[in-house]
Amino acid sequence: MPALLHIHDLRFAHGGRIILADLDLHVAREETLVVVGASGSGKTTLLSIVGGVLSPREGRVCVLGEDLAQLSARARDRFRADHIGFVFQLFNLIPYLSMQDNILLACRFSAARRKRIAAAGSTPLAEARRLAARLDLPANLLARPAMTLSVGQQQRVAAARALIGRPGLIIADEPTSALDADRQTRFLDLLLSECDAAGATLLFVSHDRRLSAHFDRVVDLSALNQAAKEVAS
Ligand SMILES: Nc1ncnc2c1ncn2[C@@H]1O[C@H](COP(=O)(O)OP(=O)(O)OP(=O)(O)O)[C@@H](O)[C@H]1O
Ligand SMILES: [Mg+2]
Repeated sequence: MPALLHIHDLRFAHGGRIILADLDLHVAREETLVVVGASGSGKTTLLSIVGGVLSPREGRVCVLGEDLAQLSARARDRFRADHIGFVFQLFNLIPYLSMQDNILLACRFSAARRKRIAAAGSTPLAEARRLAARLDLPANLLARPAMTLSVGQQQRVAAARALIGRPGLIIADEPTSALDADRQTRFLDLLLSECDAAGATLLFVSHDRRLSAHFDRVVDLSALNQAAKEVAS
């Protein structure tokens, strides 16, 4: 079976400085993988490329058999909305929208997500509420604007928004916020169990090696990334 995510010979520079070089990575369907790396090592850059937000000039990135570079910008946006759930490092919630509407936003932009929910006999609203409950978000907060939520609550809203409508790939950028270890572990367990229930593949990045035990596989970004070796030598 082809890998769900397949990265080959990826090279990416920010403003002329090479951040990622000759990077290969394959992630199997339904696998959960954490990529560990220090601050500034290129984790967010890597996820932005996998999510089709940044386009590399060299290398191939295929998600669900689709070569992202072969898609027009518009088709790439559509593909992301339909098939990739992105939990951003800073969550990227719309501050004045309610918790519920933030979760539903992912469905508004994707007919494919709405179709998958309908095929499972549910509605976007019911699914948003189910996910909120699963992620320990109390129902009485559903109507509250995102900006009034705690950081931990915002993180879980971001996860619900990524998961709704069952995209095949969830990519999650570990927040640098001051979540304590217990809350971080609880969040991870919820995210992993929802990925499992949805049959989703999870690509998670973190600076924290201690999270490794939760995942099927852990890789060091510095081992994958030849740019790190060029800088080190
Ligand atoms: N838009 C940009 N323009 C120029 N350089 C950038 C840009 N974004 C990131 N960089 C640089 O690329 C490198 C990798 O950044 P990236 O955000 O991917 O790191 P990270 O591993 O996610 O770090 P953190 O753990 O702090 O989130 C850093 O040196 C950063 O300064
Ligand atoms: Mg980052």
